Amino acid sequence: MSKKETFTLTKKLDHVAFIMDGNGRWAKLRGLPRYLGHREAMNRLEEIFEACREFNIKAASFYAFSTENWNRPQDEIDHLMDYLEEFFTKKIDYLCSIGARLQISGDINRLRPSTKQTCIEALERTKDNQNIVINVCLNYGGRDDIVRACKAIAQEYADKKVSLDDITENYFADHLYTHGLPDIDLMIRTSGEQRLSNYLLWQNAYSEFVFTPVKWPDFNRKAFIDCLKEFEGRKRRYGGLKNE
Ligand code: IPE
Ligand code: IPE
Ligand code: MG
Repeated sequence: MSKKETFTLTKKLDHVAFIMDGNGRWAKLRGLPRYLGHREAMNRLEEIFEACREFNIKAASFYAFSTENWNRPQDEIDHLMDYLEEFFTKKIDYLCSIGARLQISGDINRLRPSTKQTCIEALERTKDNQNIVINVCLNYGGRDDIVRACKAIAQEYADKKVSLDDITENYFADHLYTHGLPDIDLMIRTSGEQRLSNYLLWQNAYSEFVFTPVKWPDFNRKAFIDCLKEFEGRKRRYGGLKNE
């Protein structure tokens, strides 16, 4: 076996967000049905979770199913939900063993009852874990996230629980699905596509974007480190003139 590459990250990286893309193409290239790409994608998660812990990342977001993915054939949606259920049941002990707390961003009420139930149980079982937050974006859309936050705040205003002056950026962020998570520092999309696809629109306001040609079913610690190296070389200015 080849020696594990060592890499030291010096830049602040509190929150990494992944768009796990390319599963279908990965399968097609091998003459397999698309769903087997999703199957293989699930097998990559533990190695990436472990690498996140290794680099002391506090939160990692994973785009698992978008509000637009309902437009796919029902058979593919069913397979995706099967795999997600399997993940939420079989991997809970593993998540607890690395001290990971699960957070789910997205409306789980629209999911089939069995998927919703496994989500609820997984959230409950990991709720006291403190090493890292694994935020699974499931039936998630960035625009939907923002509209929901607006509605919740409008209701609080109507109920006279908040004044206009109290509605700050932080207050708004506390009403998003990602409440409590640090700002995203790095957004990685696999498979070569270079777009956001309605992912964490507010939360990605100042993240660095890294696009890798590697398809998610091939994405491993080494491919992740390659993305981290690119991130390490970026100059984050936040509109100012300093290098960092
Ligand atoms: C990403 O892989 C997984 C989901 C969107 C659920 P795709 O299924 O989009 O794979 P490609 O982009 O068609 O190859
Ligand atoms: C984004 O990928 C959604 C997920 C990875 C879950 P898609 O493959 O659905 O996005 P588009 O269609 O390329 O924009
Ligand atoms: Mg895709």
